[in-house]
Amino acid sequence: IYQLPFAENEPVNSYAPGTPERQQLKDALKKARSKQVDVPMYIGAEEVKTGNKKPLNPPHDHQHVLGYFHEGDASHVEQAIKAALAAKEKWANLSWEHRAAIFLKAADLIAGPFRNEINAATMLGQSKSAYQAEIDSACELVDFLRYNVQFMSEIYSEQPESSAGMWNRTEYRPLEGFVFAITPFNFTAIAGNLPSSAALMGNTVVWKAAYTQIYAADVIMRVFKAAGLPDGVINLVHVSGPDAGEVVFKHPDFAGLHFTGSTGVFKHLWKTIGENIDIYKSYPRIVGETGGKDFIVAHHTAHARDVATAIVRGAFEYQGQKCSAASRVYLPDNIAEEVQKLVIEDVKDIKMGGPEDFENFFNAVIDKKSFDKIAGYIEKAKESSTSKIIAGGEYDDSKGYFIQPTVILTEDPQFITMKEEIFGPVVTLYVYKQENFEETLTLVDETSPYALTGAIFSNDRYIIELATKKLSNAAGNFYINDKPTGAVVGQQPFGGARGSGTNDKAGSKLNLLRWVSARTIKETF
Ligand code: ALA
Repeated sequence: IYQLPFAENEPVNSYAPGTPERQQLKDALKKARSKQVDVPMYIGAEEVKTGNKKPLNPPHDHQHVLGYFHEGDASHVEQAIKAALAAKEKWANLSWEHRAAIFLKAADLIAGPFRNEINAATMLGQSKSAYQAEIDSACELVDFLRYNVQFMSEIYSEQPESSAGMWNRTEYRPLEGFVFAITPFNFTAIAGNLPSSAALMGNTVVWKAAYTQIYAADVIMRVFKAAGLPDGVINLVHVSGPDAGEVVFKHPDFAGLHFTGSTGVFKHLWKTIGENIDIYKSYPRIVGETGGKDFIVAHHTAHARDVATAIVRGAFEYQGQKCSAASRVYLPDNIAEEVQKLVIEDVKDIKMGGPEDFENFFNAVIDKKSFDKIAGYIEKAKESSTSKIIAGGEYDDSKGYFIQPTVILTEDPQFITMKEEIFGPVVTLYVYKQENFEETLTLVDETSPYALTGAIFSNDRYIIELATKKLSNAAGNFYINDKPTGAVVGQQPFGGARGSGTNDKAGSKLNLLRWVSARTIKETF
């Protein structure tokens, strides 16, 4: 039995003023800004440059060009699938210790020599503050890689009972075919985890990263290569969704989809897979983490200060662009005014601007499309007779896609911003009469087509238990007296059901089990 390096969460750097880490990260940012990258696709052993170049721009400074990526088309997806299938047998037969070693080395490279580069790429490419980049592209990605190895070894060691004259075994084989990973812009860690978790279990992968995340995805790919990942195991293509889908979902060897993104796209892909079901050798595994409309419910025993902090951090860290972001809040009338006052004061203190100035807690939203969509919700609140804006509400995309952290107060619990996912820095508060707490829990549950995260604030244990039970299906990650964001790998496995996904808990054994197809072997002596 091997003794694996024991997984522990990567310590978070603070980048406090005056520290050498802060200076090193600033140097990395300066270096990245001063040159232009030329990002290829990675297909088998090739770095493919099509000449169809698309610019990479920082969302907070959209006229600046960080470089270009080479866009491909359906033919590149075909090549990537061929490369994945060609690499499959050798990779699947490589002993798991060697697959593990590659990803453990990748984790060490990110935690060490690549840390500043990947954080700088996330800060510039996705407009994240130093702290938000650190907890994502450094710590969470490293944690995914290290914990997944531990989960893998636990899976492989789970074996059935045997008895005299008989030996029963379970073989955890990779899926037959290739896995397709589609990753979002908002977490570099998710971008690294979706292809690598399937690959760790012996699969080969075609990976399509969001165009708005390619700048950091390229660093991830280079880290995997530097760690010794053989050619063809993970193939990164830059193609449009329709181009990719047209080829991948019509391929008989399509074996699984590992997806994080919007609910609408996921449903569309699921239907497409369903329409093509007769083509495939096996039923494909479909694993998706999608939208959220995450809630905070405060009880009249809650402390106003705790609730206000959870609202500001939960709703506005990374400009609310987390599927876990707090976006609807239910406040009892006894503390509602105090909470509002504190939230308004806190929001006034938030400095907005580019992440290269470390004083800016709050940066730009990802692109023009998001900017317009979020601004549309703010306008709806401005026009409404039941709702009003009590903080923020202004936006300006002249230099970057900046939208103020915005707080809406509504009298209508069915108001559009209480129901639809906004994916931006907008939170809506609704005040209920404290004697109607149980009805409010019912309301929260009934207005939850999503079920990703949620939080209850109370100092009464009976109330905490009541809320935990009544909201049992309304959130896959439920927080007691804490903000509903910031799940840590190995501590709070992450994911939700209903419209939020298949709840295969990223950062857990459950997720890795989706990338194997077990064979039971009985041998009689
Ligand atoms: N895992 C991320 C969080 O919990 C999305 O905020």
